[in-house]
Amino acid sequence: MRKLFAVMILAGGMAFAADGAAIFKSKGCASCHQPNADTVGPSLKKIAKAYAGKEAELVKFLKGQAPAIVDPAKEAIMKAQLTMVKNLPEDQLKALAQYMLSFK
Ligand code: HEC
Repeated sequence: MRKLFAVMILAGGMAFAADGAAIFKSKGCASCHQPNADTVGPSLKKIAKAYAGKEAELVKFLKGQAPAIVDPAKEAIMKAQLTMVKNLPEDQLKALAQYMLSFK
């Protein structure tokens, strides 16, 4: 019985681990950001290149605390989207940043 309980806690914990891909989809980011092609927003590949080795900077951008570096001319469109994510807990923002960085 004790063992079963431990397994249940473990499984539950995994379900709550931050999932960057799921956040990206559920917040509607995918409608403007494709993996390889620029559409309304730059591709994830382009974003990952610009932020290579700069995960902390990307998290800052997602919190609305850093300027755009990928396509500053269109920054206003993206800044409006940050209301969706900027108040997420740190671990979820990190997972989201890591997901985006995985496209380079
Ligand atoms: C309505 C279309 C649209 C949606 C939805 C959208 N974006 Fe963007 N995004 C843009 C545009 C346009 C740019 C280019 C301007 C810029 O670089 O900030 C951009 C740029 C970015 C950048 C690069 C920032 C930089 O430094 O230049 C990141 C990171 C990003 N988006 C993440 C996201 C995330 C995460 C979501 C979901 C919460 C999201 N986007 C939803 C249009 C969108």
